[in-house]
Amino acid sequence: MKIIVTGSCGFIGFHVTKKLLDLNYNVIGLDNINNYYDIKLKKDRLKILKTYKKFFFHKISIEQITPLKKIFKKYKPEIVVNLAAQAGVRYSILKPFSYIKSNLVGFFNVLSLSKDHKIKNFVYASSSSVYGANRNYPFVEKDVADHPIQLYAATKRSNEIMAHSYSALYNLPTTGLRFFTAYGPWGRPDQALFIFTKNILKNKKINLFNRGNHSRDFTYISDIVDGIILAVKNPAKKNKKWNPRKPDPSSSIYPFKIYNIGSNKRTNLIKYLKLLEKFLERKARINYLPLQKGDVVDVFSKTDNIKKELKFKPKVDVEEGVKNFVKWFKYYYKLK
Ligand SMILES: NC(=O)c1ccc[n+]([C@@H]2O[C@H](COP(=O)([O-])OP(=O)(O)OC[C@H]3O[C@@H](n4cnc5c(N)ncnc54)[C@H](O)[C@@H]3O)[C@@H](O)[C@H]2O)c1
Repeated sequence: MKIIVTGSCGFIGFHVTKKLLDLNYNVIGLDNINNYYDIKLKKDRLKILKTYKKFFFHKISIEQITPLKKIFKKYKPEIVVNLAAQAGVRYSILKPFSYIKSNLVGFFNVLSLSKDHKIKNFVYASSSSVYGANRNYPFVEKDVADHPIQLYAATKRSNEIMAHSYSALYNLPTTGLRFFTAYGPWGRPDQALFIFTKNILKNKKINLFNRGNHSRDFTYISDIVDGIILAVKNPAKKNKKWNPRKPDPSSSIYPFKIYNIGSNKRTNLIKYLKLLEKFLERKARINYLPLQKGDVVDVFSKTDNIKKELKFKPKVDVEEGVKNFVKWFKYYYKLK
């Protein structure tokens, strides 16, 4: 089985690619290794992936159609997992155009080549941020998700809608996965856990927006990977019972599906920080700040659909997850 994974040097892409290689898939990894965060981390992830014989890597940008076309032609993949994107909520306020390039143009290129090559299963990263101004907790896929509060969320919701049009036009099976705050070893340096850890160890103050009154559905990376693998193995099917008079946005009469992937638990940011202090055996110095523009205050998933339909089961709780992250951080940065 040949599978293209875009964003293979990223946090989630690296873990998924490694898991697919362990499962004996041939993986064609694509990434432009951009400098949104420390390139060394991306290169070190790539070094690990390159130890596998069945891994083939190309450094390309998905918004450039010509090299992408050549790769599809050369490898003739059966499955595509599109994870390459400009991630980050706050950065989308500073650099909106990079989201248009990677998340809209890039996404369209990958989708369109998947159609041309009659891919059997197109899986892509969406995000819990699509729930935007929605306050109907926990967030369920059948809820309307058309009120994004920043451009990042708007591009992710657009991906879902674009995917639906190709499932309808070309019978392309597409599955969008709305990840809820992934965290864990090899994580992203722009995410809270990474920044908090660095600052605590340097005895630097931590900025806590909304005075720490945020809560997130922190989802450990191995659970995120399990969900992606389940989607890879189970292409979206047509929902024959779908009612166009009362349309459920998460499925369709076409082969289209959307799933939440979350831990199904709400964790307050202060609790997350306290766990970090416990495992680092150090106290944090905190700078309490007001809410930042574009931030969603409370995020909490309902994951009944993926549990019922694909037998998804999140296994790692936040205590164990934070402990594993601290262990990895100390190992990677050679700290005692
Ligand atoms: N980590 C999370 O909590 C989270 C939550 C919701 C959704 N997501 C989504 O999951 C996916 C993976 O996220 P991540 O946390 O691993 O982020 P990441 O930034 O670590 O990984 C993305 C990778 O894609 C690459 N990339 C970006 N733009 C590209 C382009 N135009 N062409 C080729 N490569 C490009 C980057 O170099 C990076 O290695 C993204 O689509 C992100 O939006 C992540």
